[in-house]
Amino acid sequence: MRFLFPLYHPLFCFSYSSSSPSFFSISRSLLSPFLSSSSFLMAPPAAMEAPEAAPRNAFTNVASAASHISRVTVVGSGNWGSVAAKLIASNTLKLPSFHDEVRMWVFEETLPTGEKLTDVINRTNENVKYLPGIKLGKNVIADPDLDNAVRDANMLVFVTPHQFMEGICKRLVGKVKEGVEAISLIKGMEVKMEGPCMISTLITEQLGINCSVLMGANIANEIAVEKFSEATVGYRTNREIAEKWVQLFSTPYFMVTPVQDVEGVELCGTLKNVVALAAGFVDGLEMGNNTKAAIMRIGLREMRAFSKLLFSSVKDSTFFESCGVADVITTCLGGRNRKVAEAFAKNGGKRSFDELEAEMLQGQKLQGVSTAREVYEVLSHRGWLELFPLFATVHEICIGRLPPSAIVEYSEHKPNFALVEGSAEYY
Ligand SMILES: NC(=O)c1ccc[n+]([C@@H]2O[C@H](COP(=O)([O-])OP(=O)(O)OC[C@H]3O[C@@H](n4cnc5c(N)ncnc54)[C@H](O)[C@@H]3O)[C@@H](O)[C@H]2O)c1
Repeated sequence: MRFLFPLYHPLFCFSYSSSSPSFFSISRSLLSPFLSSSSFLMAPPAAMEAPEAAPRNAFTNVASAASHISRVTVVGSGNWGSVAAKLIASNTLKLPSFHDEVRMWVFEETLPTGEKLTDVINRTNENVKYLPGIKLGKNVIADPDLDNAVRDANMLVFVTPHQFMEGICKRLVGKVKEGVEAISLIKGMEVKMEGPCMISTLITEQLGINCSVLMGANIANEIAVEKFSEATVGYRTNREIAEKWVQLFSTPYFMVTPVQDVEGVELCGTLKNVVALAAGFVDGLEMGNNTKAAIMRIGLREMRAFSKLLFSSVKDSTFFESCGVADVITTCLGGRNRKVAEAFAKNGGKRSFDELEAEMLQGQKLQGVSTAREVYEVLSHRGWLELFPLFATVHEICIGRLPPSAIVEYSEHKPNFALVEGSAEYY
């Protein structure tokens, strides 16, 4: 894979396919048995298409080129936000359809040295608090002023902990350019009186803009040091927009695949954090690998059933993309939700998640505990609690109503999944 991969990467295919179509088709057929819906199978990116008719004069050429150059702003600068800025910044330098500079909005903090985080990022080119030791790229400009950061952008990348998004959206109403495209890398949802609201929907409703999503088996620190991984872009209808996002994020070590299923991709990214808490409890109780694998399988099944009950458009195939099974695996093996849940179980549930989060994560935020509560609210509101014993149990353990060992006590309330999946067809 290590040697094969760069040959099939969309950025690489660009340069080869235009000059040697036979190479492209041979390599494509060689690799196809190994890939389900890899990004190289998609329609060629705009840069590969035949050039349009020559412009009438130099002025229109410059003017039209400038109007097609996209400016990107990353809203958020935590661990994943900083890695996203690094990925994007490496591509905007190479791709002519993007402006080199990547603006990154920073929730301003004063560091123990007395300096502002933004000043340190701009001086050292490193986010010393959330991603120490990694250069972001000189074209990443940290900006503590949210309005200023988004003003000129026509592509917005949202990547903050989900609990801050409602406030951020309120501040951005009327401040973003018309026709701006957004993508959310945020895992989590808001639960309102009317029901659950995905973060991409919140962005679309509050700002009146289209919003895609990018999720996947993406532990930020591993991508920061350029270890190979994959991600999934979920888009609504416009394939060209999806391909633009794929171009912006793809690197030889980060392979991005578009799928037309925003809700499915986003729910995968959101719900897997609840499964990761369950896996962490299992680790804390030292129950071993079989138990953990069982929990992951049951969790994935509940993720699919829950997603399909909420949105009948959700596709089964999405759960086989990076955002589905791969993200469940990586989060249950290595993520922060698993780690803190393990500590919670080791302490017999006597130290709260808030306390452990503050002690273990140095300002980073846990998403799983709030997502478990939000999912529980949806389940109880809709009368589905008994259909989702793993999701329900995780929340009840988090709030201390059940002991961590309850994570494997399912025998008495075995759910009728046939019912769940069957009704998903008609819901
Ligand atoms: N870290 C990962 O490995 C990873 C991977 C994939 C997806 N994600 C998702 O990305 C999103 C962002 O996570 P992250 O890892 O970049 O962040 P993080 O948890 O590392 O950092 C928290 C961020 O929140 C900011 N913040 C604190 N208080 C705030 C406030 N009141 N308003 C706005 N911002 C505030 C902090 O400045 C910091 O930038 C989350 O939804 C997470 O689930 C994270």
